[in-house]
Amino acid sequence: MHKTEWQWDEMRQIGTDYSDLKEVELYDQRMKSFRDVDLENQEMLSMLQLPKGSAVLEIGCGTGRFSRAAASFGLKVSAVDVSKIMLEYVQKKISEENLSPIILQHAGFLTSDFPSESFDAVVSGAALHHLPDTWKLVALQNISRVLKTGGKFILRDVVFSLREGESPDQCFERFIHSFNEQVRPGALGHVKQEFSTYDWIMDGLLTRAGFAIKSKKSVSSNFVVYLCQKDA
Ligand SMILES: C[S@@+](CC[C@H](N)C(=O)[O-])C[C@H]1O[C@@H](n2cnc3c(N)ncnc32)[C@H](O)[C@@H]1O
Repeated sequence: MHKTEWQWDEMRQIGTDYSDLKEVELYDQRMKSFRDVDLENQEMLSMLQLPKGSAVLEIGCGTGRFSRAAASFGLKVSAVDVSKIMLEYVQKKISEENLSPIILQHAGFLTSDFPSESFDAVVSGAALHHLPDTWKLVALQNISRVLKTGGKFILRDVVFSLREGESPDQCFERFIHSFNEQVRPGALGHVKQEFSTYDWIMDGLLTRAGFAIKSKKSVSSNFVVYLCQKDA
């Protein structure tokens, strides 16, 4: 039996439909209301501390803000996304901004097939929660496979951290109400339809996949940034 018969279909959009051109065009605008993406990108580049010319992969690149910042910084960038429309948008931006080429692949966490040990770093923001936990481990193992030993992995995503005495329902309410009215419906859909997991599960998945967690930081209500390193 070929694994395509049982593998999770990651091309099917879960929650927000990022294969919709309108959604793509609105994406950066929407993010602006609760994120400073340029600052996030600068922070991630300084966390990685990569010399120019290093190879970096972004998974779930969306409009390619991190990939474009990394290319401007002088890194050799590859980026994948399951939305063709997103990738077309990134290609258009690369031309407009006259950036050095970025290798774009229409694939995802499970289906990207870069050679083993070909990257110094992998970055993924707000994308892994599109996979159920069972498949997150497969995704993380694929990331570990393409990283060189000692390579770094930054994961930024919604990961639920229950406060002392807090129930899951209270945690979800807290998450939804941390967004302004403009983007709250998206947060609600995130809880209802997407697959963000709990922090202890994410910690276990990362460790199982062969990563040492170097740092873990909550950046806003339930948005967590992990800096991981591939163990020898
Ligand atoms: C919320 S956007 C995040 C975009 C960008 N990384 C950011 O931080 O703003 C999620 C992106 O992940 C993509 N995506 C969804 N499932 C994916 C998968 N299994 N593999 C790779 N990308 C995926 C979507 O198409 C979308 O472009």
